[in-house]
Formats: sequence, structure tokens, C-alpha cells
Amino acid sequence: MYVLAPSLLGADFKNLERDIKAVEEAGASWLHLDVMDGAFVPSISFGMPVIASLRNCSRMTFDVHMMVEEPGRYAEAVREAGADLICIHAEACRHLDSSIRRIRETGARVGVALNPATPISAIELVLPLVDMVLIMSVNPGFGGQSFIPYTLDKVRALRERIGLLGLNTDIQVDGGITLDNAGDVLRAGANIIVAGSAVFRGAAGDNTRKFLEIFRHMETR
Ligand code: DX5
Ligand code: ZN
Repeated sequence: MYVLAPSLLGADFKNLERDIKAVEEAGASWLHLDVMDGAFVPSISFGMPVIASLRNCSRMTFDVHMMVEEPGRYAEAVREAGADLICIHAEACRHLDSSIRRIRETGARVGVALNPATPISAIELVLPLVDMVLIMSVNPGFGGQSFIPYTLDKVRALRERIGLLGLNTDIQVDGGITLDNAGDVLRAGANIIVAGSAVFRGAAGDNTRKFLEIFRHMETR
């Protein structure tokens, strides 16, 4: 029931295929792909052509985190490139409802993301329309930042809200997650963990297995 989504942003960009194989063979089932436009966030990462060529070397669920202004514009192109799930920021959409519906129409699963300072009330009304909520635990734009502790309160409140509504929504947390704080994130109510530097800094396969071990420990608790 818990999922590790290694974030490709932490990988060695001259060895993407090698790094993807390392985490896939170690048992990671999702790959988190961070698309940045230099406008919604300060930095620029990669886009559709890179996703499309990686699609040929992996069977993992491609979880595409769109850190771009008006991401609905790219729904079809990102789906075509190979996304299984497309996650968009509530803050980046003038018409969040219609952006969500546009992604849904492509056949992809839909996620909605919130920056640390955005309250969960911002997505209250669209919760029944999405498969996943991404709670950012750093300000988006860069890997390797420190986890912002108050975001755990948002995870707890969101898990409670999802339960009250009788929904089955996944909660993903992204940013500053390590082997040391992953347990706290899961106990707060998340079930999908994104980790970039904690996976790819050092031996990616070994680090993946250590995260999966934490998941097993939680499940048998
Ligand atoms: C940050 C990205 C993250 C990033 C996480 O804006 O959304 O997915 O790769 O990297 P770490 O795990 O190093 O914080
Ligand atoms: Zn991300």
C-alpha cells in the first residue's frame, strides 16, 4: 500500500537509464518526473522529449509533477510522452477544475499539488475529482532542500478530511524526505513518498531497498 517514487531530479543526468534501472530493479514501482518552466518555479528541468525517451526503458508508473504555469495546456502532450499520472499545482491554474478535467480526458490519473504555504482548503471542492494530492514539504524548484515540519500538520488534516468524505485519495509528500523522517511522513497519513537526493545520492539501489524496508516495517506494525 505504500509507494516509493524516486525523483529523477536527483539522478545523474548523463546516466539516466542506468539510474532508473537501479531503482526499478531494487523494487521502486513509481518514477517521479519533475517538469519545471522557469516561471512557476525559478529553475528549468526537462520536458516531454526526455519523458518520451525514458518511457522506452522503464515499466514504472510515470508520475509527472508539473511545476509550470497553466499546466493544463500540456495535458495531451505529457500524456502522449508517457505519463501515467499528471500532477498539477493548484497555484498554477486559473481554472483548476477545467485543468483537472482536461487531464482526466487524456486517460491519465490526476494529481493536484499544494505548495507549503497553501492551505488544504484550496482544494476542498476538487478532492472528489482527483486520484492523488501532493503536499509539498519544500518550496518547489530544487532538490536537496530541508523538510518543512509544519507540512506534516497538513498531511494529517488532509488524511482526516479524505476519510470523512469516504474517498480513497492517495497522499504524496515531496521534498526533503530522508530515511530518517520517512516514518513520520507515513504516520501522518501519506502513502506515497517522493525522494530525490535520499535515493540517488550514493547507491540508488541500496537506498531504495532501505526505503522499502521502512514501508514493510510500517505495514507489519
Ligand atoms: C522539488 C521537486 C522534488 C525534488 C525532491 O521541487 O518537486 O521532487 O526532486 O528532491 P529531494 O528529495 O532531494 O528534496
Ligand atoms: Zn516533485
